[in-house]
Amino acid sequence: MKLLVIGGGGREHALAWKLARSARVHNIYIAPGNGGTARDKRFHNVPYESNEALADFAQRESIAFTVVGPEAPLASGVVDVFRSRGLRIFGPTRAAAQLESSKDFAKAFMQRHRIPTAAHGSFTAAAAARAYVSERGAPIVIKADGLAAGKGVVVAMTLDDAYAAIDSMLIDNRMGASGSRVVIEEFLAGEEASFIVMSDGKNVLALATSQDHKRLLDDDRGPNTGGMGAYSPAPIVTPTLHAKVLREIIMPTINGMASEGNPFTGFLYAGLMIDPQGEVKTVEFNCRLGDPETQPIMLRLKSSLAPLIDAAINGRLDQVEAEWDRRTALGVVVAAADYPENPRNGDAITRLPNDDDDCITFHAGTAFENEQLVTRGGRVLCVTALGETVSAAQRRAYDAIDQVAFDGMQFRRDIGHRALGYRVEKNIRIVDG
Ligand code: AMP
Ligand code: GLY
Repeated sequence: MKLLVIGGGGREHALAWKLARSARVHNIYIAPGNGGTARDKRFHNVPYESNEALADFAQRESIAFTVVGPEAPLASGVVDVFRSRGLRIFGPTRAAAQLESSKDFAKAFMQRHRIPTAAHGSFTAAAAARAYVSERGAPIVIKADGLAAGKGVVVAMTLDDAYAAIDSMLIDNRMGASGSRVVIEEFLAGEEASFIVMSDGKNVLALATSQDHKRLLDDDRGPNTGGMGAYSPAPIVTPTLHAKVLREIIMPTINGMASEGNPFTGFLYAGLMIDPQGEVKTVEFNCRLGDPETQPIMLRLKSSLAPLIDAAINGRLDQVEAEWDRRTALGVVVAAADYPENPRNGDAITRLPNDDDDCITFHAGTAFENEQLVTRGGRVLCVTALGETVSAAQRRAYDAIDQVAFDGMQFRRDIGHRALGYRVEKNIRIVDG
């Protein structure tokens, strides 16, 4: 069986790595892939020029199914193009991907279906947006409506910061078309977790829970990034909370999309905010797997991935189960110099750790040129390890990072800090020491 993975980041490397372990999978193509997939003989990088050209390729090569990693191809309708040609693909249609590609769509949808989320207003005029902020007060959250690669959210602690964010999006057009409408949201306090499921449009299969670290620097300081590291499971998601999220957020979303004639197929990622009382709200939806959450999740998945995706494409997710390694998996992102502002490209990666079953270095922003790996992008690697405890997984990942060398490399030293010392007993979260 030949498979195609669309994307070129750490998430797609982890998907391809996991798919390659399925017995019936012989060839995995990745469009466009990265340096790590280029030099691994199990994978073949192919260009990603357009959705149509990729569908031609899938047809020509008799690809058994395609999996889509990032949001941009989904928002541009890659699933619609493949399906119109009878090609099997796992991901949401362009219309269903609006759950991520338009915050205004997502908020209105959640309101219609009474899915818990922050109160909000939606604006295209700066004066009305400012008036809403004056009435509500700070802290308050300003979001560009469209896709903004993680840069479209300003958590404003003061009114002045909120006004500045509104002006930069609606008057100065700093976010381009993505910011020509803004969603202004109530500030939610609490702890975040990532809750990702597979959906066939009707049934869901929950993946293991996870948490990521969005800020660049230790202690959650510095600018927001795409994610500097992640771990699975998220101890804050107790079994009771897990059931509540499925009941109050995930199933109403899947049922609501179906009832509106817009069934959601693919990976659905609900970003959760959990308050100290255990109440949970949806911060955002992504219509795809998280990056870097996928890397630890794939390391913990014991079942073969290909049959799960195959079942999802066939609308039979109710007939499969996923088995998880009970250990913790933790991934640390190693980023390029000057990430996230202006990541430097072209630094030679001179040393890498050896992979084994419990520790894998997934590539993201790398290229393989003249037999040399070089940096090509902001997040370069995600070193991901399994351990009996969070600290054991942490030790393992950081020991491996000691073997990584390239100029300007930067990484956080505290990935997993929120999970340290958490124990969950009988559904009660206990913080040690
Ligand atoms: P989003 O792109 O919507 O996930 O927002 C990016 C990040 O901004 C989230 O992961 C949160 O850390 C933060 N954020 C977004 N919305 C809110 C909110 N309503 N209250 C507090 N923090 C938020
Ligand atoms: N790690 C957050 C995301 O993938 O959106």
